[in-house]
Amino acid sequence: MDRVDAMSDLETRARKVLPPVLGHYTWLSIERGQGSWLHTTGGRRILDLTCGIAVTVVGHAHPRVVKAVTEQAARLMHISAGVAKYESNVALAEALATITPSGLDTVFFGNSGAEAVEGAIKLSRQTTGREAIIAFRGGFHGRTVGAATLTTSKAQYRRGYGALLPEVYIAPYPYLLACALPDPHDGEACASHCFAELEAMLEHEVPPEHVAAIVIEPVLGEGGYAAAPASFIQRLRELATKIGALLIFDEVQTGMGRTGAWFAAQRFGVVPDVITAAKALGGGLPLGAVIATRERMERWRTGTHGSTFGGNPVSCAAGLATLEVIRDEGLVERAETLGNLMVEELAPLRSHPRLREIRQFGAMVAAEFDNKTVAKAAIGAALERDVLLITCGFHDQVVRFIPALNIKEDDLRKGMRVFVEAARSILVGAPA
Ligand SMILES: Cc1ncc(COP(=O)(O)O)c(C=O)c1O
Repeated sequence: MDRVDAMSDLETRARKVLPPVLGHYTWLSIERGQGSWLHTTGGRRILDLTCGIAVTVVGHAHPRVVKAVTEQAARLMHISAGVAKYESNVALAEALATITPSGLDTVFFGNSGAEAVEGAIKLSRQTTGREAIIAFRGGFHGRTVGAATLTTSKAQYRRGYGALLPEVYIAPYPYLLACALPDPHDGEACASHCFAELEAMLEHEVPPEHVAAIVIEPVLGEGGYAAAPASFIQRLRELATKIGALLIFDEVQTGMGRTGAWFAAQRFGVVPDVITAAKALGGGLPLGAVIATRERMERWRTGTHGSTFGGNPVSCAAGLATLEVIRDEGLVERAETLGNLMVEELAPLRSHPRLREIRQFGAMVAAEFDNKTVAKAAIGAALERDVLLITCGFHDQVVRFIPALNIKEDDLRKGMRVFVEAARSILVGAPA
């Protein structure tokens, strides 16, 4: 079978045995990944500016991560954290405690972002004795039932699922381009408006003393790569403290250096009560975490939460090696440089009428177009030129750029230029 046949064969087989519920950005058949490059079964070499949706932060198959994984797999692949202790699990928790905002030093490991969010909901409900959770419109927190209840980036994530979790309230997120205030207004005005709406919610819909937690992505991920103004995040901290609710930062997408700090919380100068992490945390293997203070975790009653696979030895070994690579290669500091480079390379698109905004927060960069057709056509044209990108945003109208933090500068520059050329090629004929 030649390489092209192998590619179509894999897709044909996948279409028979995998369910259509799983959406697809592409049907590429990937044979292997190396650094920032993907190799397809058909022999194409594609620049990966998606990192498997913000996961492979040190690139594919980093030698130190591969070594840690293979050595751990040979030593101990599974025992379950509830059955016995093992080095990689404890060592990763210790390492995380050195990079989290001060005081957040105790880690519950799960397998994914959604699971981390579920854990954070349970932790906050049980330890406050309250039930209500406030989340923000446009947020994405995962697809399990509890996490999906907090998720409002698209209504389709709830379609046909009936009643979800009770006592969840949704407040507006300060995302300027989606703000209800009439134009023109700036980010601060949008933030003030959204905060006033949140206060009104506490006056009219949910009594403050019912609120267990306020859960927010400091930077919207799936919702559009839009950062909340720091003033809003700081006011949320004050509000949560005032009403006795926990402030939970969902840093599943923003954590582990992506924003130019280990956690976005540190860029905002705010210490939340709980952080949820996943994605880059496992460096490519499934791993999630709920991180809080010792004092808070001591109040989460023994045996009321757990996981068979959470904090698996191999995932933790991969996570630890990834964290060490990020630290040793200075990748947290590099995130801002990469972000600036991407924005600089996008400059030729700025004046185009179909582009609404270019946004950057560390190495999270977004180009928001005025509709999904343009954004999707642009990434389609980029893929034809061997650069892989994905969209985000309420209507998939945003192209997001998520390079590995150790990508070669030259590769990133070339990839961005390819995208600009691709976007220009389709923008020329795009319907108004
Ligand atoms: C901010 C945020 N929280 C939670 C999740 C859910 O993570 P997972 O897909 O690992 O369950 C995601 C996934 O995209 C995310 O971006």
